[in-house]
Amino acid sequence: MAVRSVGEEEKSTPQKRKLRSSSNVSSVKQSPAASPSKWKSPRRCISTSPNAATTENETRIHKHQPELLNPVAKPLLDCFTPKPKWDPKDGEQIRMVKEALHVSSAPSTIVCREDEKNVILEFCKSCIEQEKAGSLYICGCPGTGKSLSMEKVKVLLANWARESGFLQPNVLAVNCTSLANTSDIFSKILGLNQPQRKNVTITPLQQLQNMYSQKSSSKNMILVVADELDYLITKDKAVLHNLFMLTTFPFSRCILIGIANAIDLADRFLPRLKALNCKPMVVTFRAYSTDQILRILQERLRELPYTVFQHQALELCARKVAAASGDMRKVLSICRSAIDMLEAETRESTSISDIASEEELSPEQNVASTPDYTKKHEVDIVRIDHMTRALSKTYRSPLVDTIQSLPHHQQIILCSSMKHFRGVKKDTILGELYKSYMDICKSSLIPPAGILEFSNMCRVLNDQGLVKLGQSREDKLRKVALKVDEADITFALQGIRFFRNYLQ
Ligand SMILES: Nc1ncnc2c1ncn2[C@@H]1O[C@H](COP(=O)(O)OP(=O)(O)OP(=O)(O)O)[C@@H](O)[C@H]1O
Ligand SMILES: [Mg+2]
Repeated sequence: MAVRSVGEEEKSTPQKRKLRSSSNVSSVKQSPAASPSKWKSPRRCISTSPNAATTENETRIHKHQPELLNPVAKPLLDCFTPKPKWDPKDGEQIRMVKEALHVSSAPSTIVCREDEKNVILEFCKSCIEQEKAGSLYICGCPGTGKSLSMEKVKVLLANWARESGFLQPNVLAVNCTSLANTSDIFSKILGLNQPQRKNVTITPLQQLQNMYSQKSSSKNMILVVADELDYLITKDKAVLHNLFMLTTFPFSRCILIGIANAIDLADRFLPRLKALNCKPMVVTFRAYSTDQILRILQERLRELPYTVFQHQALELCARKVAAASGDMRKVLSICRSAIDMLEAETRESTSISDIASEEELSPEQNVASTPDYTKKHEVDIVRIDHMTRALSKTYRSPLVDTIQSLPHHQQIILCSSMKHFRGVKKDTILGELYKSYMDICKSSLIPPAGILEFSNMCRVLNDQGLVKLGQSREDKLRKVALKVDEADITFALQGIRFFRNYLQ
């Protein structure tokens, strides 16, 4: 989190600067694909994560949450303590799990946003205590918990006011995308100040300006939460400007909280506020890191009485999304999609065993004729391969696409190269690689291609930039090296049943 005043030198920048939230109207929306430009292998993702660079702010947050520093630290593992496995054939269980992972289900505790929530809450409290107007601007990338945290702050503030004997603030929460006209925001604020509309000829904005220019008998502060604030940006910037200016009137009782994605919105659109020394305080929500995503998932899944996901599957999802955008909405949608993959697989296995029993096979025959993946013990929780498929539905990369669309034997060559080069070797000769390829073919009982055909297939892979072939008078002696990341091959082939045993 970063807290600063507009105009201060920037210390933390959300990695994606977006003026307009890419999401839709309410907080139950699904985020549109904010696809990363290139799919990166898990290994590379770690170093290129937007959260990789440790800033002053991050350091501060980690100080409060030391367990987040190490992904395999005990607290994270604790969260996945064994529970009975669920039954994906049970419709009610599926419904419960999907609900727990739905964007519209507000979690009972919001983890990883403690600092941000506190800053906003303290700001509101001090305005109420001092009966002083003020403005605060919350910014950050989509799905980083801005709206969710603000919802929580409203509840905490109401509780605090009740317990401390302060008058409850009147609250107006408005999603600016729902306004027919941008200036409707003023009539809504006016409605909060004076529920009985007076028949006057001046505009709601002018009425508010008049009201806040003179002492009034009203004691309540008003809290205006304007979410998706960037929708108020008009050509002349007047609405946004006038809205923030309302907090600068001598008798204003307005606490204004604006929420949007752009970090520099306040700087760019509110220059006069700066000149008047009335700049809003800014709270930046940074993209979630892998550890934070895992903690949030843990919290959301904690209440379920069973284990739904393999831990590695959740970790893969967290790592990929943290590297791409740190968007929690995307994490939830990918996890739900991985459940769909498991559901489909379960349905498929049920129908296969139904057919088998209709054909009256003995139980032994039945198991033998059923493919490996359908065996009961494997089909029960969301595994890494379900997650991989769900991730690739969201983030496609040309490289992964290329590998997935290769003919089967070329995929086997890539798989055998990966195994061959795993560990120390950087390159080998074609004849040696051919042996590795033959091993896979033999163990899976498929006829291998001859050495000539093998060499031709390697040439095709070389042309596609997937391997690099050297020169030699004899084909068998040509040097061959792998040109793609092992993780990309694993990712691309993981969803293909044939390769499952060879990728471990
Ligand atoms: N800390 C968290 N704990 C639990 N769930 C979270 C957390 N942060 C985000 N989420 C989930 O992600 C969803 C998106 O969060 P939220 O709506 O607050 O994002 P936002 O920052 O307001 O995004 P946008 O800029 O697109 O409006 C929430 O509905 C919530 O379900
Ligand atoms: Mg929001």
